[in-house]
Amino acid sequence: MKILVISGSLRASSSNTRLAKAIMDLAPAGIETQLYQGLGDLPHFTPDLDGDDPPVSVVALRQQIQTADGVLICTPEYAFGVPGTLKNALDWTVSSGDFSEKPVAAISASPLWGGGDKAHASLLLTLTALGTHILEEGKIIIPMINKKLDAEGNIVDSILVENFKALFNAFQRSTTL
Ligand code: FNR
Repeated sequence: MKILVISGSLRASSSNTRLAKAIMDLAPAGIETQLYQGLGDLPHFTPDLDGDDPPVSVVALRQQIQTADGVLICTPEYAFGVPGTLKNALDWTVSSGDFSEKPVAAISASPLWGGGDKAHASLLLTLTALGTHILEEGKIIIPMINKKLDAEGNIVDSILVENFKALFNAFQRSTTL
C-alpha cells in the first residue's frame, strides 16, 4: 500500500518535515511512502481557478492523493491555526473529493508545550469536512518536538516510535476493512 506524507511547513529546516521523514523511515515492509513536495507551488485557492482545467500543480496534488491508500499529515501551528499553505492545499481538494473515505493521520508538532493542539483541532475539523476517515491511532499531538528528534532526524522518544508503528498497523488494517 502507498501512504502520501504531507508536511505543513515550507521551512528549510522544519521539524515537521524532519519528523515526517523519520516516520517514513519506520514504515514496515509492504508500505511505500512518498513525500509530497508541491505545497509551495499551489496557487491561492479560488473557485475561479477550480474549473475544468485546473492548474498543473493542483492536478498533481489531486493525483497523488487519489493514488495513495492513505495520507499522513504533519503540521506546525501558526497563530493557533494550521499554516495557510496547508489549508490552501486542503481547500483545493474540496471540489474534487479526493479525500473522501481516505484513511488519514493528523499529527501536529511544536517546540512548545501545547504541541500545536489548536492547529491539530482545526486540522481535524477540516479533515472531517473533507469526508476523510481519520484513524484514531493517527491523532497525535507532539509537544517539545526538539527534544524528540535528534540532529540526524531520528526519533529519540521510544513511546513515539511505538505510536508510529501502531499507526502504520492501523493504515494496513484500514485497507482490509
Ligand atoms: C509559530 N510557532 C507557534 N507554535 C505554537 O505552538 N503555536 C503557535 O500558535 C505558533 N505560532 C507561530 C507563528 C509563527 C508566524 C511562527 C513563525 C511560529 C512556533 C512554531 O511551532 C515553530 O516555529 C516550529 O518550529 C514551526 O514548525 P516547523 O517549521 O519547525 O515544522
